Amino acid sequence: MDISARSMLLCLDDYEVTARELLNKAAYEYIASGAADEKTLKANRAAFDEIEILPQVLVDVSSIDTSRTIFGRKHDYPILLAPTGYHRLFHERGEIESVYGANRSNTTLIASTFSTVSFEAMQRASAAPLWFQLYMQRDRGFTRELVRRVTEAGCEAICLTVDLAVNSPRDRELRAGFELPAGMVRENLIDMGRETASAAHSGGVGMLYNQVRAPNVTWKDVEWLRDELTIPLLLKGVLRPEDAETARQLGCDGVIVSNHGGRALDGVPSTMSMLPKIADKVGGSLALFLDGGIRRGTDVFAALAMGADAVMVGRSYLYALAVDGAEGIERMMAILKTEFEMAMGLAGCTALSTIERAMLQMRPAR
Ligand SMILES: Cc1cc2nc3c(=O)[nH]c(=O)nc-3n(C[C@H](O)[C@H](O)[C@H](O)COP(=O)(O)O)c2cc1C
Repeated sequence: MDISARSMLLCLDDYEVTARELLNKAAYEYIASGAADEKTLKANRAAFDEIEILPQVLVDVSSIDTSRTIFGRKHDYPILLAPTGYHRLFHERGEIESVYGANRSNTTLIASTFSTVSFEAMQRASAAPLWFQLYMQRDRGFTRELVRRVTEAGCEAICLTVDLAVNSPRDRELRAGFELPAGMVRENLIDMGRETASAAHSGGVGMLYNQVRAPNVTWKDVEWLRDELTIPLLLKGVLRPEDAETARQLGCDGVIVSNHGGRALDGVPSTMSMLPKIADKVGGSLALFLDGGIRRGTDVFAALAMGADAVMVGRSYLYALAVDGAEGIERMMAILKTEFEMAMGLAGCTALSTIERAMLQMRPAR
């Protein structure tokens, strides 16, 4: 990408516009779309529009500290890269390029079960430990072996995704004819056989169950997994405060307030509307993350004020990967981080601990 084109990429949404021009329609639709009527997809963004920030003036902000320690590791800023599948659709080196982007951005990438490069290869390429997102497999023996493998490779935390027990209606994906291209497989699942590893992505009309995601995962499995692991366990896809509380009671280390970016059950609330309720229930007793619709530094600020310890971005880094590889991710994350620092400075905050809920108000009805 030439320098003048790159210099016109000023905010995260600019990456989507450019990626849309570069990607084939099916790949773009796979990233951009949500489930069914996309009510939840839209709600995630709309929730941020309803929040106003009340800045404190006349605070010395000549030094701003955005760092936070998560599971014993210091993060320069509280933004991680959410797990997403099939990066080879967006860049020829796939997840390896994403690893480089995460490394250059000094942030943590959560590798998806559905990556097109194995976790081991990703971790070997990475200068820092990765996290792994787990879709529990029907074969619990295989699942045990998978978490053992990724832990041995250097993984620092496991995120068990709990919001996609069955397929969701992906009308836009299906209309665009999205499927895993021939020759592209979920490398982490290759030991279950090439056919399984390349099974249909979301099935199609009338396909309720998915071959590569177990539909029978319960709290018993969470306890089982907790006992198998020697590294932190997070549940990804929690929206109910009661479920967050159960996760805490069962010894989970973190919860990711997420609705899968509006790609699972359509009609569930935005993540931002549930975050304060979950923070009130379990905040401070386990690590709390939020994803869904983070596009601006002010969104990061609002999520932290509502009780998140850190946020994750999904679609935006895939667009950046498609546009400019690792450099794209680096620049996109620099934009988001700087916007966040600007939000802190302009709101009179010098450390993450000074960002409080009292600094927000809901937009008055018009
Ligand atoms: C293209 C795409 C693929 C995804 N793949 C996975 C996945 O493999 N596992 C998972 O737990 N979540 C997956 N997600 C959900 C993300 O981890 C995250 O929850 C969501 O993208 C956050 O919302 P945002 O895209 O608005 O930032 C995927 C999301 C997208 C957009």
